[in-house]
Amino acid sequence: MEQLKAIVLAAGEGTRMKSKKSKVLHEILQKSMVHYVIDTAKACGAKQTCVIIGHQGEQVEAAIQQDDVCFAWQTERKGTGHAVKMAGDFIEDEKDILILYGDTPLIVADTLKEVIAYHRAKQNSVTVVSAMVENPTGYGRIIRNATGDFVKSVEQKDANETEQAVKEINTGIYVFRGADLKQALGRLNNNNAQGEYYLPDCLEILLSDGKNVGAYIAADEKEFFGVNSRVQLAEATKIMQARINRKHMEHGVTMIDPENTYIGCDVQIGRDTVILPGCVIEGNTIIGEDCEIGPNSRLTDMQLGDGVTFQTSTGLESSIGNDTTVGPFAYIRPNCHIGNHVKVGDFVEVKNSNVGDGTKIPHLSYVGDTDAGEKINFGCGSIMVNYDGEKKHRTTIGDGVFVGCNVNLVAPVTVEKNAYIAAGSTITRDVPEDVLAVARARQTVITGWKSKRSANKS
Ligand code: UD1
Ligand code: CA
Repeated sequence: MEQLKAIVLAAGEGTRMKSKKSKVLHEILQKSMVHYVIDTAKACGAKQTCVIIGHQGEQVEAAIQQDDVCFAWQTERKGTGHAVKMAGDFIEDEKDILILYGDTPLIVADTLKEVIAYHRAKQNSVTVVSAMVENPTGYGRIIRNATGDFVKSVEQKDANETEQAVKEINTGIYVFRGADLKQALGRLNNNNAQGEYYLPDCLEILLSDGKNVGAYIAADEKEFFGVNSRVQLAEATKIMQARINRKHMEHGVTMIDPENTYIGCDVQIGRDTVILPGCVIEGNTIIGEDCEIGPNSRLTDMQLGDGVTFQTSTGLESSIGNDTTVGPFAYIRPNCHIGNHVKVGDFVEVKNSNVGDGTKIPHLSYVGDTDAGEKINFGCGSIMVNYDGEKKHRTTIGDGVFVGCNVNLVAPVTVEKNAYIAAGSTITRDVPEDVLAVARARQTVITGWKSKRSANKS
């Protein structure tokens, strides 16, 4: 069985992005373009990927830290053929080499799998992926003979008038047999309109050697949309967004307004969950069944159980159990583990904390660096005072504790189970089980005070 390796071209300048950042690191729904391409190569069976870097290459290298990805530098930009040549010994004779561009993120693995299967069935030396387009301007054209066999791929700038009228374009994606690719790269020249070493010229070289060369016409030209500017980045985002949202709806997720719902490509959502408008759901977020998310919520790397309501809130890198309600206007910061049937209400911030089943934090609280048990009631305005100006400390609260309104628990401190903390208390020492702790000045009432004051004034 042939094995697959991939080469991703990403050495170009991307001048039209007008950015300090490498073009291929610009993101579509919170994932960089080059990461889409690498993941797609992997999904096609590529065991290793070599990314050709040049302009802003250090950034690209730093952004991709994966065992199965390596890098080759192209310090001078001498054309796509020259770029591939930089991969050197990465190209192995017995393997198939899939060539992709780092700025063409919409390509779908299933399409490429068909191309690879076709390439192998035909025992091709190289198969180029082509597409039929309305406006072929700027692309290389696929030229065929009278019987429809592949003849060559000619660049726009080198094409004559008849060739320019051809609407079958070279998408820039190929599968090569390793040995043949190496061989053909060694024979490229730059005698053309742009003075570049053109990768597409390899096709003609291999054909002249009597090898099988094919062009596979892909059905959906949108997959080959290349991003060169911010406007095209937004266009690519719209295409990706529609694709992702459609997939979720087909799997049983309701979206009130898919145009206004932004879901990253790795997010998982269970059946009968409803996503209200204005949500951004990203990273490795997993949402269970029967949840209601939004409107206007952000979830990054979150795990939600079933039946969760998450209203107008932000959640980062945390987990939430079943039937818990969050928001409106809650902020769940990283490393929280919130249980089942919990209420995290309005203007509540939770950070680096565990919150047990059935606990209620209904309003205006800060729960940071806290281990809170089950069925605790946090009164309005309760604050875990976790920071002494230098260090953070933890608060531990046992099951069934009642924390009155406007209470400060000054960490490090432990409140044992079923204790009551009187409203307005500032607790600085541990509280044992089942007691009432009161830590506030006793109220005094001064009788006759008003009449005395009036008398003094006259
Ligand atoms: C290329 C093809 C053209 C095809 C089109 C599809 C060639 C000569 N032409 O044209 O047939 O229709 O893609 O989009 O291959 N790159 C490098 N180093 C280089 C040159 C390019 O890494 O020296 C990278 C670029 O960053 C880019 C990709 O290769 O990701 C394509 O380069 P680009 O200059 O955009 O090629 P096109 O002229 O569009
Ligand atoms: Ca291009």
